[in-house]
This record gives sequence, C-alpha cells and structure tokens, in this order.
Amino acid sequence: MNPEILLKILKKFKNKDLSYDKILSSMSSIPLKICLDVYKEFYHTNLGDPKLFKGTKEIEDIAIKIIGSWLNNRNAYGFIVSGGTEANLTGLWIARNIYKKKKPNFIVSELCHFSFDKIADLLNIEIRKVPVNEEYEIDIDSVRKYIDENTIAIVGIAGTTEYGSVDNIKELGLICEENDLYLHVDAAFGGFVLPFLKELGYYNKEFDFKIKAVQSITVDPHKMLLVPIPAGGIILRNEKLLDNITFEAHYLLEKRSRTLLGTRSGASAAMTLASILYLGRKGLKKIVDDCMRKTLYLYEELNDLGFNVIKPKMNILVFSHRKIEKIYKGILKKYAVSMTRRNEIRVVIMPHVTYEMLNDFVDYLKYLLKNI
Ligand SMILES: Cc1ncc(COP(=O)(O)O)c(C=O)c1O
Repeated sequence: MNPEILLKILKKFKNKDLSYDKILSSMSSIPLKICLDVYKEFYHTNLGDPKLFKGTKEIEDIAIKIIGSWLNNRNAYGFIVSGGTEANLTGLWIARNIYKKKKPNFIVSELCHFSFDKIADLLNIEIRKVPVNEEYEIDIDSVRKYIDENTIAIVGIAGTTEYGSVDNIKELGLICEENDLYLHVDAAFGGFVLPFLKELGYYNKEFDFKIKAVQSITVDPHKMLLVPIPAGGIILRNEKLLDNITFEAHYLLEKRSRTLLGTRSGASAAMTLASILYLGRKGLKKIVDDCMRKTLYLYEELNDLGFNVIKPKMNILVFSHRKIEKIYKGILKKYAVSMTRRNEIRVVIMPHVTYEMLNDFVDYLKYLLKNI
C-alpha cells in the first residue's frame, strides 16, 4: 500500500482517541520528543538476545545502574521491561522460587494495583489483602496477623494507584527481617516521583534499598520519566537474585534467559537512558515540583467549591460529593477522570496537565454543581 494512504487510514482511527488535553486520569503523559530520535536509532534492537546487541545491553545496564543509585543501591541489577505489571510479576516470581513452598501466599494492601491479582493467578500464589488505615497505608498490625508458615513475601506500595499513599515500608522491612520474608516494593508510580518530593520537602519516608529487607523495586519509566510505552523497570538488590528465574535459551547466542519476555525492546532501554540523561535529576525534580504545585492548586480550588477533598500526598487528587455519580457522568462529557473503588473521583496531575486545563475543569465543575 502507498505509505501516504496507509498513514491516512491509521490517522483516521487515531482521531477517535482522546487527546491528552482531555485526560486527567492517566499515569502516563506525553513522552519526551527526544525519545522519537532515539527510537529511530534503536527500533530494530532486541534485548532478548543481548549478545547480538551488546551496546544496547550496555545502555540498559547503565540505565539500571543510575536508577538503582537514585534508589540508594549501587549494586542494583535489573531490566527495562514492558511495564509495572511485568516488573511486579518478576519480583514475586523470584520470591516464589526462592521459598519453594507448596501453598505459598503473599501479603499486600487492599489498595494494590490489579496486576497483583493477575500475578497471584499466574504464579499460583494466594494473595492476602490487608486493610488500610485512615491514611490509606497498609495496616501494620494486620500484616502481622496475616503471616503464617506459607507466607513468602510482603509487597509494600510506594504510591498507590488510586490515592498516591505510601505504605510504611520501613516497618514492613522489620517484619520481613523478623519472619525471613521477601520484600518487594511497588513504586511503579512513586519511583520517579517520591525521591523528588522528598528533596522538595513534601514527604519524608523511606521506601527504597536503604531499607535492608527490600529485595526488588518496580519503577515505571513510562510514567513520570516520560518514556514512551512500553517501559517498566524491575530493579533488584543484586544480580544473584536472577538465578531464581534463569532458564536455558538453547537457540540464542546468549544462553540464559532471565526475563519473562523473550524478544524485548532495546529501544525502550535506550529511551529510558535518554530521558534520564536529558532531564537529569534536576529536570525531573522540576517536573515533579510543577505537578505537585498544580495538584495543591486544584486541591484548594476544589475545597473552595465545597468538595470533600483528600489532602494529596502525591500528584493524585481524590474528592467526593453527595451527588458524586451525577457529577462524574457530567465530567466525562468533557474530561477523562476515573473513580476509586470507594466511589470518589480521581484526578492525576501529570506533566501534560496545564493550569488552563485545571481552570477550565474548575469552571466546568462550577457549572455542573449549579445544573445538577
Ligand atoms: C502502583 C502501580 N503498580 C503497577 C501498575 C501497573 O503498571 P503497568 O500498567 O505499566 O503494567 C500501575 C499502573 O498504573 C500502578 O499504578
């Protein structure tokens, strides 16, 4: 087919998509333009066989080392994977194979991302969901009660998908040490946000490898690092952990396979390093600061309108109202927002969200409040 015609056809479909200026519910954003150039250079690379693409593999290793150092671990090893789901799966896959229990279970907060339900199903591990406290953090006393002789791991969440809350990972670390359990941290969203919120003084809790028991952390470059999808990250305390998920790859030049995917994108690794270098810690901190300021701005505006708004810990805002269902339906005619499992409206303030969008959103809410 003529390339111009086929592009026209594809664009016709694309026109049905929402554009980011209408999206207030996404944890991804418009990726950095620099990534387009990088993709052109690396679109043919396959890290499923790193011996064929040695240079690209070095790029992945450097990206992981830098992310590891941001997470306070200079010995970190890991991979750029397809997303948070694969990264979380990898962490629990390692844990399951270390402990080799007949009927293993793992413990996580009831606010965990749905990827953990899939993982429990795939790995045949029982998932034990623990209630949260009034701060939306896993209830530590309950965690102790859920542990038994078949428990292999605890998952701490650093930035829950719905509320942006952060579990007390330090306490979870102590519990894991006492009970010889694997500690995985799901910082898919928080990984590239919390370190900077901490530097900016919004937040002061530990969630990374500084905590001795933490064995693996999920961080997603395709969220706040502004890398095109797919780019997740599984960061391990050390390379040795991979022995638990190493399989023979007979027909490849590299004889070991250590990721869930076989064939996998080298471009995602290259774009991740490109974003890290392009933005640097300084650039990312500025982006996070900007998102947090906008979140607090919207928080004040919504309070003034009489909504019941949860004080944001991160760039996620959750609010409710006695006519929430009608307001939600009304908002969806103009903006994409989502609902929490507790029937509150949830807004995520990512870098594509401008003050103009927020002001228009607030005006629209005023209109809805008057007309509902
Ligand atoms: C905390 C958390 N964990 C895991 C995931 C899953 O990530 P992905 O959609 O990249 O698979 C998400 C996605 O939003 C998330 O917020």
